[in-house]
Amino acid sequence: MAEVVIVDSGEAAGRLVADHIAELVHLNPEMVLGVATGSSPLSVYRELARRRSQGVDFGRSQGVDFGRAWAFALDEYVGLPEGHPQSYRAVIDREVTVPLGFDPARVNVPDGGDEGIESTGERYEEALVARGGVDLQLLGIGTTGHIGFNEPGSSFGSLTRVKTLTTQTRADNARFFDSPDEVPIHCVTQGLGTILRARHLVLLAFGEAKAKAVAAAVEGAMTASLPGSAIQLHEHVTVVIDEAAASRLEHADYYRWAQDHKPAWQGI
Ligand code: GLP
Repeated sequence: MAEVVIVDSGEAAGRLVADHIAELVHLNPEMVLGVATGSSPLSVYRELARRRSQGVDFGRSQGVDFGRAWAFALDEYVGLPEGHPQSYRAVIDREVTVPLGFDPARVNVPDGGDEGIESTGERYEEALVARGGVDLQLLGIGTTGHIGFNEPGSSFGSLTRVKTLTTQTRADNARFFDSPDEVPIHCVTQGLGTILRARHLVLLAFGEAKAKAVAAAVEGAMTASLPGSAIQLHEHVTVVIDEAAASRLEHADYYRWAQDHKPAWQGI
């Protein structure tokens, strides 16, 4: 089962997860961080960026240095012009690579360019395997229950490939574009099987709009119809959510109880 941590705010989630990532990169400066786009992981990136620029104390070490670490993004739109501000390459550059100080040559985003798109998934899988896989994968969850861009119906064994976005996801993401028609129809996303290979999954979700998807992913039946439920197969999952996102969880009281009695030596 996943460990569910219910926090007071996005900032508290950011601090908790940033603590852990900072520790990982301190222990292994060449760690592989799986990065996600969307608003959910932003508090983690902001907290890491703050520590990087201020060299804030966080227990075992000082500051945080991603200069030798690697990053792999979950997904990308297909067919956006190169440099489009809403391409996930551009988003990851803005939110992660620059503020956290990654070497751009060590930041990987699936190639959503039309040329060679048939084999783009295979190439991404090869790059992931060559790097030894992801140590910690940050995840958000879409209102359709998607993780990455694995829409309902995605196989639990799926690898990086081209997918078609649902009407719901295109509508959810239309706010980032000038008009809803501009949202691409296709994407390339790590598969559920790819995501499940990461050594630790950290799923973040905030707000009432996510409550249904969170409850289904954490406590519902495991089904390809709710791709986020694939996390139930993983041996090391941490779900970090606020009260609103936790509001439909049947066992929320138990999760709070477990956190209150968590052995001091156990991290996330
Ligand atoms: C997008 C991304 C997902 C993300 C989801 C939720 O569709 N492909 O990786 O988890 O949106 O976004 P947000 O965190 O902004 O709610």
